[in-house]
Amino acid sequence: MATRQFTLTDNSSGKTSTLEALSPSVGPDVINIAPLAKDHGVYTFDPGFMSTASCESKITYIDGDKGVLLYRGYPVEQLAAKSSFLEVSYLLIYGELPTQTQLEEFTRSIGRHTMINESLLRFYNGFHYDAHPMAQLSAVVASMAGFYHDSLDIYNPRHREIFAHRIIAKMPTISAAAYKHMLGQPFVYPRNDLDYCSNLMSMFFGVPAEPFEIDPIAARALDLLLILHADHEQNASTSTVRLAGSTGTNPYSAISSGVAALWGPSHGGANEAVLQMLEEIGTADAIPKFLARVKDKQDHTKLMGFGHRVYKHFDPRAQIIRETCHQVLANLGRSDNPLFELALRLEEIALKDEYFVSRRLYPNVDFYSGIIYRAIGIPQSMFTVMFAIARTAGWVAHWQEMIADPGMKIGRPRQLYTGATTRNYVDIAAR
Ligand code: CMC
Repeated sequence: MATRQFTLTDNSSGKTSTLEALSPSVGPDVINIAPLAKDHGVYTFDPGFMSTASCESKITYIDGDKGVLLYRGYPVEQLAAKSSFLEVSYLLIYGELPTQTQLEEFTRSIGRHTMINESLLRFYNGFHYDAHPMAQLSAVVASMAGFYHDSLDIYNPRHREIFAHRIIAKMPTISAAAYKHMLGQPFVYPRNDLDYCSNLMSMFFGVPAEPFEIDPIAARALDLLLILHADHEQNASTSTVRLAGSTGTNPYSAISSGVAALWGPSHGGANEAVLQMLEEIGTADAIPKFLARVKDKQDHTKLMGFGHRVYKHFDPRAQIIRETCHQVLANLGRSDNPLFELALRLEEIALKDEYFVSRRLYPNVDFYSGIIYRAIGIPQSMFTVMFAIARTAGWVAHWQEMIADPGMKIGRPRQLYTGATTRNYVDIAAR
């Protein structure tokens, strides 16, 4: 098929240039605007990246109109039903599903890296007991660059691999340490005889004084949530990791900036905000009053867990999570869950409301995830941390893909400057 071309004419000078469209393996074409600056001395303006592709990537594909999400080509529904978080991490990072031997080797390697340096543990004492765990996570991840000098050469593929295994292995340990610090309980060391999520739960909920009994239903539910959150192409935190990483900084600093970006309520912080919102609404009869506030532009209240930049029909992850909520609550013997009932009713009312219909706003991944987290015992302040643990797989895959690209460039956007033009300094006495 012939390459699509677009002709741009500067009507004042009559000068034209031809812009070529780059064809993806699936999805809409992307116009290469690189000649614009050279040919015409102009840049493009696209606040919020509404129509701009920031990079080329082979990792994840989303079709927002059809509600499609593919990790390396595999539909997320299939991975959610059949895979595990570690297998999905391998897929995202290495590009292919592992063989049995590769998965065992990967799992063994992750197991070898679950402990954190004892000195790193002492960092937590510097935090007040009620410091938000995302603040602790971001700081502790950044500080890891001071511990692993043996593998910080970003241009060495083996160093990059060691980093990838290390950070995926240590995220649950770092997160559990933050949680234990909040509780004032002793840190529980990782257990490499357990699978990824069972180990996470053991570190979160175990205490040294007695054995911890793992609930396999809860561990599997958590694994499923991690799979669904593992990657989402060029979202805000992944783009942050890429931008920070493009400077050549060490990968721990890049991931730490991703954690910081994820924390915002428009992004990963939404899962915590949804539960706060449901608690604030309280009962179904208060929903209309709450939605009236959401629709009032002066009020600045949002229906948290609703809307998405890319999904304009439905978010496939939200559908899987809603279904999983039913199963998990039934399996845990907690089918009678007022918060879940309230969320279902809120969704039903919002989806019939002209405000949400006309704007194509649907429940996103965060609308129901908090209900499962809560049901399996994860406290509200740790919801976004769970998201960060999962998204680490995606961040690592994107960072690796970018650094391994010989054409990598530092990310450096242009701007539309509307400030003062050149003016002379005025002495303070004359101002
Ligand atoms: N509640 C009320 N109004 C909304 C909402 C919402 N949740 N989401 C979008 N709108 C309105 C928005 O005010 C705008 O209205 P108008 O055209 O009258 O100005 C219109 O819908 C278009 O929204 P937008 O803000 O231009 O869309 P966006 O693509 O820039 O923002 C979003 C996407 C996810 C930030 C936004 O939908 C939102 O803030 N949602 C609530 C927070 C949330 O659930 N975030 C999690 C996203 S999914 C997980 C993740 O990415 O981490």
